[in-house]
Order: sequence, then C-alpha cells, then structure tokens
Amino acid sequence: MIAIFQDMQIHETAFVVSTYRSLHEDVSKDNYAKLWNNPATNALLPTIFKEVSPYEGILHAIRNRFFYESLRSFFNKHKGGTFINFGAGFSMYQFILDDSVNTIDIDKKEILDFKKDRIGKWTAEGKLPHRNIQYLSINFNTAQKEEIVYSLRPLITKKPTFILLEGVLFFLNKNTTDKLFDTFKVLQGKDDLVGSVSYISSIKNTKVYSRLINYFDKNNDTNDSFMHQTIPHSYYEQIPNYRLARATSEFNLLEEYSPAHSSIKENEILNEHLYLLQKM
Ligand SMILES: C[S@@+](CC[C@H](N)C(=O)[O-])C[C@H]1O[C@@H](n2cnc3c(N)ncnc32)[C@H](O)[C@@H]1O
Repeated sequence: MIAIFQDMQIHETAFVVSTYRSLHEDVSKDNYAKLWNNPATNALLPTIFKEVSPYEGILHAIRNRFFYESLRSFFNKHKGGTFINFGAGFSMYQFILDDSVNTIDIDKKEILDFKKDRIGKWTAEGKLPHRNIQYLSINFNTAQKEEIVYSLRPLITKKPTFILLEGVLFFLNKNTTDKLFDTFKVLQGKDDLVGSVSYISSIKNTKVYSRLINYFDKNNDTNDSFMHQTIPHSYYEQIPNYRLARATSEFNLLEEYSPAHSSIKENEILNEHLYLLQKM
C-alpha cells in the first residue's frame, strides 16, 4: 500500500479525489471509485472538509461526470478509439465506458505500478469488467516531448483519441504545460479531443483558495513541492492547432448535475474550469 502517509505527496491527492467520487456516486456515475477507499485517506477528509471546504467532494464528482459524459459521447459516436489519461491517478473511466475503447493510463511509476497490480487483482476476482489498458510511466516535468511521443505512439492502435488532463495542471509549471499541449498536437488527428481542468487566477482572491494553500503548506511533504498553477481562459483560445470547443466550470454544472447544491455561491467554492479542445 503506497498510502501510508503523514504528509501529503502529490500522488496521494489521487486517493483523495477518488474517495470524493465515491462519496457522490449518483453524481459522478463512477461506481468503481470506492475500490480505492482506504482508512488513511478516509482519516484526511474530515479535516479537509472543515479546514478547506465542505464542497470539495461534490465538485470533484461533478468534474468526473462532465468528463464521463464527454468521453462517452465521443467514443459512442466513433464506436471505439483510444482514451489517453495524462496524470490518470486512480481514475476508473475505462470501466464505465464501452469495452471497444482502449485506455492508456499515464502517471508516475509508483502510482501506476500500484494501480496495475490492483486492477489486475480486481479484474481476476470479477470486481471489475475486463478492459484493454496499457500503463506508461512518465514524469511530465522531466520527459522531453520526443520521448513522450516515442513511447506513446506505438501504444495507440485505435483511433480517434481523447486525451484527458484532469486534476494535474495545478501541480505543473507553464513550460511543462506548453510542452504537453505541443506533444498532444503531434499525437492527435483532426477532430480528436483534449479535456483539461484548471483554476483561473481570480480564485486567488477567495478565502477558500487561501485555506487550500494553507492546508497544502501545512501538510505537504517538503520533498514533493509543486506549483500552484492557474491558467487564464485565453490560454485555451490560443493553443496552436486546437479550437476551444467547450468551456464551462464545476459551478456552472451544479444545477444540471446536483440541483441540491445549486444555491452554493461561486466565491465560496474551489471552482475549477473545464475545457474541451478539438484538434484542427
Ligand atoms: C489530483 S491527482 C488526479 C488524478 C486523476 N486525473 C483524477 O482526476 O482523479 C494528480 C495526478 O497527477 C499525477 N502527477 C502530478 N505531477 C505529475 C508529473 N510531473 N508527472 C506525472 N504525473 C504527475 C499524480 O501522480 C496524480 O496521480
């Protein structure tokens, strides 16, 4: 078990977000997220809900639902293809998508070794349906664009592709972000999609964001430092070779996916913006 933690490392955020999804299965539609639940992560949540925000669970479930609906409609239309998940963590989309979809999960080695082992075990036990999944370990900060293309391209045996970058950009810097989009451009064909998530900079003026940063500063393992990247909307309108096909936010989707929470105010939540980009 890699999640025996006193201090929070970046990969541990993957346990936290998968637990969030499991708390609102009716919204996230991810009925497999709960397989990752564990006592160490459960012990963190009351403090996060109290010290940062009580709405983190529902917002992450909404984020998951948005990308699930986007993936499902893309792959249904194309009757299969390849889903490439950059910074996949413990995402389980592949198991709720059609089995005609191939999946490539990309993350750091430590997290992927653990995920591969568990997925293999749960599939053998009949807890998960069989899916065609490949695992590729890459550190986005250190890998060159050419290396990523060289190792990823042979794994893409079914087109079209949908690339997802969910819950990752907060941890990366601008150069790495530019490099990733530059890499996607080489890998994708016309009309392929990229899904992305980030905060806009005005979030920094909110009390809830200050509480998030305080929480990370207090609990982050000092050997695992990361950026607190925010990205302006205009960045997505200027990515070479891509057209911004849809821009929305968790706040905008509350009414549709969780009407019970629709009275929440935008400046009280850690509202992430959600983007779909189409290759031109
Ligand atoms: C908050 S989790 C999100 C996981 C998943 N995408 C989701 O939404 O449930 C962030 C993930 O990004 C991965 N990650 C962060 N920085 C990375 C890097 N430099 N290279 C590769 N993966 C990275 C972490 O290991 C972790 O699995």
